[in-house]
Amino acid sequence: MRTVPAAVGAPVSRVEGPAKVTGAARYSGEIPLGQMAYGWVAQASIARGQIDSVDAAAALGMPGVIGVLTYENAPRLTAAADDELLVLQHNRVRYRGQVVALVVAGTLEQARAAAEALPVSYAAEPHDVILRADHPGMYAPGHVNPNYVTDTATGDVEAALTGAAVQVDETYSTPAEHNNPMEPHAAIARWDDDGLTVWDSNQGPTLVHRTLATLFGLEASAVRVITEHVGGGFGAKGSARPHTVLAAMAARTFGRPVRVTFSRQQQFCLVGYRTPTIQQVRLGADADGRLVALDHLAYSQTSTVVEFAEQTAVISRVMYASPSLRTRHRLVALDVPTPRWMRAPGEAPGSFALECAMDELADACGIDPIELRVCNEPAVEPEGGRQFSSRHLLDCLAEGARRFGWADRDPRPGVRRDGRWLTGTGVASSTYPARSMASTATASAWPDGSYEITIAAADIGQGARTAITQVAADELGADIAQVTARIGDSGYGPAMIAGGSMGMASWSWAVAKACRQLRAQLPASLRPAETITVRADTTSDVAALPDLLRHSFGAQFAEVRVDVDTGEIRVPRMLGVFAAGRILNPKTARSQLIGGMTMGLSMALHEESIMDAQFGDYVNHDFAGYHIAAHADIGAIEAHWIEESDGQLNPLGVKGLGEIGIVGAAAAIANAVWHATARRQRHLPLIPARILS
Ligand code: MOS
Repeated sequence: MRTVPAAVGAPVSRVEGPAKVTGAARYSGEIPLGQMAYGWVAQASIARGQIDSVDAAAALGMPGVIGVLTYENAPRLTAAADDELLVLQHNRVRYRGQVVALVVAGTLEQARAAAEALPVSYAAEPHDVILRADHPGMYAPGHVNPNYVTDTATGDVEAALTGAAVQVDETYSTPAEHNNPMEPHAAIARWDDDGLTVWDSNQGPTLVHRTLATLFGLEASAVRVITEHVGGGFGAKGSARPHTVLAAMAARTFGRPVRVTFSRQQQFCLVGYRTPTIQQVRLGADADGRLVALDHLAYSQTSTVVEFAEQTAVISRVMYASPSLRTRHRLVALDVPTPRWMRAPGEAPGSFALECAMDELADACGIDPIELRVCNEPAVEPEGGRQFSSRHLLDCLAEGARRFGWADRDPRPGVRRDGRWLTGTGVASSTYPARSMASTATASAWPDGSYEITIAAADIGQGARTAITQVAADELGADIAQVTARIGDSGYGPAMIAGGSMGMASWSWAVAKACRQLRAQLPASLRPAETITVRADTTSDVAALPDLLRHSFGAQFAEVRVDVDTGEIRVPRMLGVFAAGRILNPKTARSQLIGGMTMGLSMALHEESIMDAQFGDYVNHDFAGYHIAAHADIGAIEAHWIEESDGQLNPLGVKGLGEIGIVGAAAAIANAVWHATARRQRHLPLIPARILS
């Protein structure tokens, strides 16, 4: 019956591409509203203590200033799950850079000038901002993100380690890193008779909508969050952030629309970052490399505002078979900004430690690192015994080895030299959970033969709008030109965020369900006399999923060159092969995967937020001091995937691609640096000073 080519699986270009490149697409800070005022935050200049006074009168005397919100006059908020959103509710300072006031003025420049000149006096207290494994405040949190148990243990790991023929016991560390989406956080808020409308840059309007309704004590129907175009998130926009709350407060107080945007520097304080980690990995194996013990202990930090517990060691619960397996997480609350999600939270830093340790074990056993992974491949979940819905790690390693040319590799480290450069290659495994969450969507058929989909999804650059259009076109038997996908509006009903690689794995289900129901109601002509709209909700479908372990897997390969004089590392080649379920759009999929791998290279070589112990702040909080891999840092990157059909996920078999590309990438590079230089690198980033020391 099909008369149009299948859209799913086709390399469709982004449907909003023309709007974006012509500037017609408006981002959240660009909505033109009359009477707009501009808010700029003033930030704490101490890391701990209390505000004694804010001289708002001084700001009010400056040009254009409309008002100043402080803890003394800001609207009261209802307690929310995230205390970081309770801005301007008290005079405690819990980290340097915390919001202490919002200055609102007629222009952005006036607001900024007054905020930066705002006199604030403090009673400072000594602060504590440095993560160390022996910090006396270390504790075991009640769970780690999002809701994993903190510690697990199977078998007697200590006894198994003691008796193991081969042992690896090393400590690895990863630094604080700041997610820097191209578009800084931005919100415009407007109150009218219907309630609160916010144009907000986030990874999904549903969560922000709920949060604002709670904070301001409003009915859900009195809040609308619009998120049409978003310039990246990487986790920093995964939940409501303070800019949105401030814009809503100011718009209510001053009776006109207010825009609040953060500068690049403010992004480094107010919207989250990846916690630094210290990780001890202990592996025990028999002489053939078969694991008898795996012990992964991870330390990380949180703030005194919110407990954010990175799930760093969780990756070791799924990767390799071992009769004794222990994972533990410890956390300390410091006087620092709250860490948050950053692309593959948990798996990104955790894979660095585990996959480097596996490389060290391969060397200690004298076997190939791919062979080591093959002989430790589990048949079921290593610690819990659940079945995997699908697991194609070994296929990824084999296909990657073939494409990369691994068979020709001389395993000896430190023996290849090309002029000033030592060269080497490395490999690491990758994984990321594959989850679907409940979402709602509508599908409408119009008399002219066109269709409209609505879903509160967010397109943060990954291509969600396009993939949703493709899914709908296929389900409806239509051409993609007949389908308009409207996304990014809380008014469309609840939907999953673009986070945790769960976006398309969730939205595609709701869209497909709505389209199937719609199609069943269409006349044979496919042109209804009047518009038909159906709404689908996948809550019960998702709840009925069987209890399986669902993960994507991948294999990361890297080739490096290390300058013997300067310690500079170049990465001429990266290659990844992934088993990540059904690929809806190879063009946007490839883009996500090489984006993740690029971010992994950036993690390996460049990114590090440096804490100044004296001032209690990350000092390199701009793009002059914080380097993110640029085009010139990147050589050839290839991302491939293997066909994977997994009927145990969701109707389209989507696993999600947002994070798996970064997982294991830094380990592959560090392992290649060892292969080049014969020196292990256990502390990121691999900057020249570290290589030379
Ligand atoms: Mo992603 S760090 O789950 O938004």
